Amino acid sequence: MIKIGIDKMGLALPNYVLDLKELAKARNTDPDKYTIGLMQKAMAIAPVTQDIVTLGAEAAAQILTDEDKAAIDMVIVGTETGIDQSKAAAVYIHGLLGIQPYARAIELKEACYSAAAGLEFARNHIANRPESKVLVIASDIAKYGLHSGGEPTQGAGAVAMLVSANPSILELNWDNVYQTRDVMDFWRPNYSPYPEVDGRFSTEQYTDCLQTTFEYYQQQTGKTLDDFAAVCLHIPFAKQGLKGLRSLKPSEKHEERFLEAIVYNQEVGNIYTGSLFLSLLSLLEQSNNLSAGDEILLYSYGSGAVCELFSARLVDGYRNHLNPNRLEELAKRQTLSITDYEALFFETISLDEKGNSPELHPDDSRFALQGIENHKRIYRKN
Ligand code: COA
Repeated sequence: MIKIGIDKMGLALPNYVLDLKELAKARNTDPDKYTIGLMQKAMAIAPVTQDIVTLGAEAAAQILTDEDKAAIDMVIVGTETGIDQSKAAAVYIHGLLGIQPYARAIELKEACYSAAAGLEFARNHIANRPESKVLVIASDIAKYGLHSGGEPTQGAGAVAMLVSANPSILELNWDNVYQTRDVMDFWRPNYSPYPEVDGRFSTEQYTDCLQTTFEYYQQQTGKTLDDFAAVCLHIPFAKQGLKGLRSLKPSEKHEERFLEAIVYNQEVGNIYTGSLFLSLLSLLEQSNNLSAGDEILLYSYGSGAVCELFSARLVDGYRNHLNPNRLEELAKRQTLSITDYEALFFETISLDEKGNSPELHPDDSRFALQGIENHKRIYRKN
């Protein structure tokens, strides 16, 4: 059977970061609650000029060559923080990147889960058209609101994955199993800028969906946890992933790999759809204990809820296609004071009666929102 999977991976984060110890101080909370209780260190903060389109375009621009742009015939963006009820973010990104016109561009939604579905849609598409490449982007800004229960678990960022035949990083196995259950653990009504969250309930649903889907996965595939060198999970905050993993009764090796798989998430926070793939990137770039042929089990969970378990196999030479300097790059982000975080992350764009925004503050990123004119979002490409 033709081998299909992830050929390249890109990560885009905003240039700003908030240390959770600072947040704890400002909220009169013991910092250990965040650093030990949630196992998080910092969260990425996006200014108003960075949204799911600019972050998604940047993540993809880092990995795509002109040859890729000529071969891509589908762009899928998974997100739960869309910027338009109608037009897909994938269409803006297709335009900003200059991908050849005879392509599909769509946006998928189901909380933190949809990019995992996007990955399988991409795989199935390529199975029928082996010359095609599909760009799958997970892009989100996780914002729970000032003084909210979820405030320490916010974040922003995008992961882009180029899916192709004969991939350089990971071959996807054909073993996906999924589960849907209609629960209200986290949702965001159209009229609300912030989600409604039943925090405790959502953490229980995450783990119960994992356990029950894993039982089903084992029945369907005959595989057990011992077949996998590592398990990557959706990481809304690292402690959640650890609790999920432990519910599967992992070996010491799996717990060690888990610690390598949360290095980036601990510095970035929750990026919703991208969190699982950020964790995968962390594992692949930070672990010295994996080798070609190793199998990795992946767990995607989106509140509401839909989850999926699937696996992938590491390709020979995969590390040559990743970024060994990622942590140094993360360390270059600008650390914000609490006052600047509150102003920057929660800034909103006001429009006049014609739907025009005032000029937004300068942003020299490769892609930035310049403003809104006549209700149209205007993006600038540097
Ligand atoms: N030192 C060390 N640990 C501490 C602590 C301290 N001083 N104070 C609290 N903790 C621990 C708690 O024991 C708990 O750990 P445990 O669950 O392993 O027992 C953890 O810190 C969180 O404390 P808790 O009291 O549960 O926090 P909270 O009521 O503020 O809620 C969330 C935490 C995660 C529920 C909240 O941040 C939230 O709603 N986040 C968004 C929801 C989300 O992401 N859900 C997952 C969807 S997939």
